Amino acid sequence: MKNFVVVGASGDLAKNYIFPALSNLYKTGTEFNYYGFGRTDFTPDQFSQIVTIATDNQQLSDRFLYVTGNYDHAGFAALKGKLINPDSIFYLAIPTSYELVSAILTSLHDLHLVTPDSMVVIEKPFGTDLASAKLLMDRIKNTIGYSRVFLVDHYLTKELVKNIITLRFANPIFQNLWSNKFIKDITIVATETKGIDDRGQYYDKTGAIRDVIQNHCLQLASLITMCQPEAFSPHDFVKEKMSTLKNMRLFLDDFDSSVSIGQYRGYRQEKGVDPQSTTETKAELIFEVDKPQWRGVPIKIITGKKLSQKRTEIQVTFRQNLDCLWGDKCVLLPPNRLTINIFPSNEIRLTINSEFNPAQNLPTAVDLRLGYTDENQVIRTAYENVIADIAADIRINTPSYQEIIAQWQLIDPIVHHPNFVAKLKEY
Ligand code: BG6
Repeated sequence: MKNFVVVGASGDLAKNYIFPALSNLYKTGTEFNYYGFGRTDFTPDQFSQIVTIATDNQQLSDRFLYVTGNYDHAGFAALKGKLINPDSIFYLAIPTSYELVSAILTSLHDLHLVTPDSMVVIEKPFGTDLASAKLLMDRIKNTIGYSRVFLVDHYLTKELVKNIITLRFANPIFQNLWSNKFIKDITIVATETKGIDDRGQYYDKTGAIRDVIQNHCLQLASLITMCQPEAFSPHDFVKEKMSTLKNMRLFLDDFDSSVSIGQYRGYRQEKGVDPQSTTETKAELIFEVDKPQWRGVPIKIITGKKLSQKRTEIQVTFRQNLDCLWGDKCVLLPPNRLTINIFPSNEIRLTINSEFNPAQNLPTAVDLRLGYTDENQVIRTAYENVIADIAADIRINTPSYQEIIAQWQLIDPIVHHPNFVAKLKEY
């Protein structure tokens, strides 16, 4: 059984996502030798209580061994002495600053902690811009190597996001309509009702575009517009996603009409935020894939904090048939739309006109709904899927370093555009 080491074991990521995911996997038979590693000096009881509060799973808490140490050679050497298997998954549940990750990679490498069957898991953000992302990727390459690193963008392991591939490539009805000839526009929504909580220090240097669009939303955009990969392999997926990402640009290449940003009222008073901050907490960007099959289709991405709904969704709207049976009124027919609701409903909806409304003498729209949850069936969380993928070394749902670089190449010029800050509006 491999070791699973949560580095940064008392942080929010560990408590809110990793421990609960480990607990659910444990209940269904995926087990590890569990370790918590961190700088705070907890007694075994104190740490066990942290895991119990996070998971309500005493059996799992009892299996954890907590090791105190700094994220340096001495700390990792102390940890090494406690590991019962040479092969480990090191999950870095820490703020991913370049300096910290780099120091950890060096220690893991120098202390020979990363065996050919080990894995180091690094969460986004991968750098804060193109230059720092390249530095991080170089550091990985020059220490333990890409093959022993698993990069996590948790959106890619959400169940409905994983299903995009099946939906798109196992259904000829969609496959044949998937281009600018039939698709009018695409909208990707990732809005939240909460603010920045206590993440002011991180968020104020980051903003909505770098926090959510650079990674999660661009990954969704590339999955929804990429061509069919030659085979079901990570290599072929990367190839097609890259071909999309490399050809993405702001819609019509026009910054002014394709970029809107806002900042929520009261943001500047949040803890850790500069009182003069011009960081955006909301953004609407419109992109297009500059390829013959996509040119002219706006891909609108909307994200932000403190908005009216927590919603994560992809909407693909089809062109209307203006030559339909109802003559001049064809334009009044609701467009067909495919909606992939990732949150809150976990469902796929196809909006079609299938009922005739005699009062208006026109068809009206109804939704065909395909739900992925009901009261008997609970779908796996993104983090359960991340850990299951890592355990089985499945690399389809992880961003490659090329994609991360391409994503920064697209985002850097937008956030550094001379008119960027002038666009900020309070909401
Ligand atoms: C994270 C961002 O990557 O995604 C957070 O850093 C954001 O700011 C979160 O709240 C949203 O994730 P989810 O899964 O709740 O949509």
